[in-house]
Amino acid sequence: MARAREKWNSRASFLFAAIGSAVGLGNIWRFPYITYKNGGGAFLIPYAIALITAGIPLMILEYYVGHFTQSSPPIAFKKFWHKAEWAGWFAILLVFVLSTYYCTIMAWCANYFFHSFSLGWGSTAESVNSFFNNNILQLSGSPSILGGIRIPILLGLAATWIWIYLSLFKGVETLGKIVYFTVTIPWLIIIAMVVRGLTLPGAMEGIKFYLIPDFRVLLDPKVWLAAYGQVFFTLSLAMGALIVYASYLHEESDITVNAFLVGFADSATSFIAGFAVFSILGYLAQTLGVSVADVTNSSIGLAFVTYPMAISLLPVAARLFAALFFLLLLTLGIDSAFSMAEPVVESIADKWGLSKKHVLPIVCMLGFLAGLPFTTEAGLYWIDIIDNFITNYGITAIGLIECILIGYVLGAKKARSYINQVSEIKIGIWWDIFIKYITPFFLGISLVTQFIKLIMGIVKENKGYGGYPVWTTYTGFGLIIILAAASAVLAKRKGAV
Ligand code: PFF
Repeated sequence: MARAREKWNSRASFLFAAIGSAVGLGNIWRFPYITYKNGGGAFLIPYAIALITAGIPLMILEYYVGHFTQSSPPIAFKKFWHKAEWAGWFAILLVFVLSTYYCTIMAWCANYFFHSFSLGWGSTAESVNSFFNNNILQLSGSPSILGGIRIPILLGLAATWIWIYLSLFKGVETLGKIVYFTVTIPWLIIIAMVVRGLTLPGAMEGIKFYLIPDFRVLLDPKVWLAAYGQVFFTLSLAMGALIVYASYLHEESDITVNAFLVGFADSATSFIAGFAVFSILGYLAQTLGVSVADVTNSSIGLAFVTYPMAISLLPVAARLFAALFFLLLLTLGIDSAFSMAEPVVESIADKWGLSKKHVLPIVCMLGFLAGLPFTTEAGLYWIDIIDNFITNYGITAIGLIECILIGYVLGAKKARSYINQVSEIKIGIWWDIFIKYITPFFLGISLVTQFIKLIMGIVKENKGYGGYPVWTTYTGFGLIIILAAASAVLAKRKGAV
């Protein structure tokens, strides 16, 4: 029996929820370190190109898929082609894995929140660095040394999943209200961080590194793949989140204006947060007497070093500000985190005609358990490795499949005429060209070149992704293959629809 579909109670609720999903740790934690790792200023060029050639066209596509089919991704894809249900489940399993480590990073933030009251990380570059590696993570020497589970992180993880449960169990209407807070307040704090950062000595060196491009890095395929991966991650693309949110829209709701607004709000947040992080890096470089490119090697932990550092340097109310900052990082992340759980719950409930109230606690529980490896002393390495395979390969592949499904199987023109019927801003034939040729071309190229590079690294230098041992790369690929196979099994199961 088909379930009655939930609906947003206003246009603003959808917009805020979509912005809430997009704007998250991806902007404040992931964007700065990916930019730092990929050459600073030069990275902004592939990022902007990725946003235009894939981000915005695909976001319009996903809103269309949800809006038109009023279904969760597996069923939605099946409506376009009976064999495509598999791809929907693949997206859902990818977002499930993503949620497990995303919530672990939320758990790090929760730990920092509790240490805020004593400014436990100190105020020197060394103490801040060591606090993250030794006190919070107790980082082991390599991915193979898991060590024990870090109890404070475990507790943070449990709290995050409980928070997700509480945010979702009342349904979309309450969700639509929560997001007003989780979206607006964090922006105020980001602005305060930027102001503090920019007034530090040496800040300008950091800003130069951030804004002045070094065109040589553009020749490196890794940088391009990272840009596409980041755009997908930050816009919550190819993960089912947008499709599910759009499926709660009323029939007459706009598609294109919403897509442009979300794309703009999200990119602006990343860009502005970049000023905070890079000005602080400039300051650290000056203090340590090194160049900005050499300030830190803890790329994935960048945000957990630079922000606390800046907070310690505040002239007044540093403790209060620290607590506020981490609380706000949590509120920023939570609406992204629940937008990862929601598509999983909705897809299962949709296919088997189950009540979401029953599915939600099971998904939260499984998400928590699956996140346990990330709470070990090698957690940071595994987040780095798994994130690479999920975002750079899994999600890019889903993007490619979506282009083929809508661009060719359905026909881009058909989709466009539906989109234009409901939208204020009409899209032209350019969108068809993007979806059919340009977006898949870029996605395909970045997938293939990155893959070749990885294989070469293994063959020539006997090193896997990120310089980790080769077996970790096989584990990453193995996971993707297992998820793809499991998706096929789920698609084959008989459902209620
Ligand atoms: N866009 C979120 C962020 O930037 O933090 C992360 C995200 C949320 C990715 C939801 C995927 C998703 F389905």
